[in-house]
Amino acid sequence: MNQKNSAPRHFLQFKDFSRAEFEYLFERTRQIKQQFKAYQKYWPLTDRTLVMIFEKASTRTRLSFEAGMHQLGGAAIYLNTRDSQLGRGEPVEDAAEVISRMSDIVMIRTYEQDIIERFAAHSRVPVINGLTNEYHPCQILADIYTFVEHHGSIQGKTVAWIGDSNNMCNTWLQAAEVLDFNVHVSTPPGYEVEPERAGLYGTDHFEEFADPMDAARDADLVTTDVWTSMGFEAENAVRTKAFADWQVDADMMKVAKPEAVFMHCLPAHRGEEVAAEVIDGPKSVVWDEAENRLHAQKALLEFLLLGKLRS
Ligand code: CP
Ligand code: NVA
Repeated sequence: MNQKNSAPRHFLQFKDFSRAEFEYLFERTRQIKQQFKAYQKYWPLTDRTLVMIFEKASTRTRLSFEAGMHQLGGAAIYLNTRDSQLGRGEPVEDAAEVISRMSDIVMIRTYEQDIIERFAAHSRVPVINGLTNEYHPCQILADIYTFVEHHGSIQGKTVAWIGDSNNMCNTWLQAAEVLDFNVHVSTPPGYEVEPERAGLYGTDHFEEFADPMDAARDADLVTTDVWTSMGFEAENAVRTKAFADWQVDADMMKVAKPEAVFMHCLPAHRGEEVAAEVIDGPKSVVWDEAENRLHAQKALLEFLLLGKLRS
């Protein structure tokens, strides 16, 4: 079943898909979510197997992929570096050859983007990025779907990114290029966006602000993430000092548009990157955002395995 003559499609960075493909995915996400809420059985992936490889911790990504695959009629297998040969120096290319002969699709959470690119180059089946140091495309897929649910199209809108120029920030910036919206970024000095690492074509869709209040002004969506991402724990003490003024608080939400929403990919640290009154307040859509990982990734699995369905 998994043998393919042509090279498989992968989702390794947000810019791997076109705007038309994202529009299709958002529509499929809406339909799949609606069916699921109506308790309608939908098993298009019967006998298909997803392998999930985790080199870093996860709650939402594991749960949403594993539950999602099950709900589509398929099976999911969890591998981690601790209990498999992956942590004992087996070349990533060899692992890709073997794993992709025994499965239909693979999701990987790892460190450098290069690891997942090398895996994909040797995989017979589609590979999905479940987070790398550089990108988190599945999260942004769900986040933009969540924005669309609350406000309609994101085209021409402004997203304020407050904090670290990390994997989430880079992916928002790529998404802005693909879907034609703007990102206002404010990072502490020394943590600015690196356009090449972010994989950007240009700088037309983002603007940097020294003061986070200026980045948040008139934004349609305000979002942030942890000050210290997984893999950077050794920098925690230095970062805690550097990021102290980059907390999304109620005053910051006040300068955004009155209808602006707050998002956070989670896990969150109340009192650090976000004030409790914001994440637990009326503008926060973080629980919808987390839930939509499930629905958006089901649409993604369906698309990568079955292609575009005829309407
Ligand atoms: N947001 C997200 O990817 O969460 P996990 O680290 O729990 O998977
Ligand atoms: N930027 C965070 C996201 C966690 C989902 C990290 O990489 O740890």
